[in-house]
Amino acid sequence: MATATLPTPTTTAAAQRTGTRTIKVEIKRQATPDAAARTEKFEIPYRPGMNITSVLGEIAAEPITADGRETTAIAYDANCLEEICGSCAMLINGKARMACSALVDKLREGDEPITLAPLSKFPVVRDLAVDRSVLFQNLKAVKAWVPIDGSYELGPAPRQFPQIQEQRYPLSNCISCTICMEVCPQFNDSTNFVGAATIAQVKLFNMDPSGAVLKEERLRALAGDGGVQECGMAQNCVAACPKQLPLIEAISDVSRDVVFQQVKDLFAR
Ligand code: FES
Repeated sequence: MATATLPTPTTTAAAQRTGTRTIKVEIKRQATPDAAARTEKFEIPYRPGMNITSVLGEIAAEPITADGRETTAIAYDANCLEEICGSCAMLINGKARMACSALVDKLREGDEPITLAPLSKFPVVRDLAVDRSVLFQNLKAVKAWVPIDGSYELGPAPRQFPQIQEQRYPLSNCISCTICMEVCPQFNDSTNFVGAATIAQVKLFNMDPSGAVLKEERLRALAGDGGVQECGMAQNCVAACPKQLPLIEAISDVSRDVVFQQVKDLFAR
């Protein structure tokens, strides 16, 4: 968990004195995983080019609510600040987005106060930071890796056709932000659905000449409870993915491969 970098402090009072524009923000906060949620309101000085991460940084620099009460900095996850690490996903004006790429100027006009809340389908750790380890458990369950141990000379990797590389590359852009899971109606407390990101990684690693050695195990893992057949094709995932991964194509392809694998296994009995 990281707190924001500290921008040059400019107090709300100073902003108000000089008549500078301010931004109103309402943040859903929760001190511990079991604590009751509450909302705190802030009014911070506007600076051109601000993103939501810098809004949170402004609050960290001077954690005082809009009604003048001293409070604490907001906890949230962030690292790369350029939509690469996938850690800063949260609900911004009710929509699952990355805080570092959500520009205040580009939020819809009239969308003030800006509301910030933690992702709703993951346990809250504190404030806007949530526990997304379920994604990593799912990736582990489908063996989303290339099985090389590196303890001996492996020689050159198998060559890949450029056409295959081009299909694999967009899938390798997944940043594990879990937004596809947050927006998926099938990912909820009453199912074990693994979600689009995990299925897309199965396609990515099954297409890898070295990774394909685990192809059958991955497909079998997606044939059971929580597997690919639980996708309801709502397609919210593909609309919300910040990296525009071809998730529906991946789900269709993996779904077909899972059925083939089941038939193959049936005849192999
Ligand atoms: S901080 Fe890394 S994706 Fe936003």
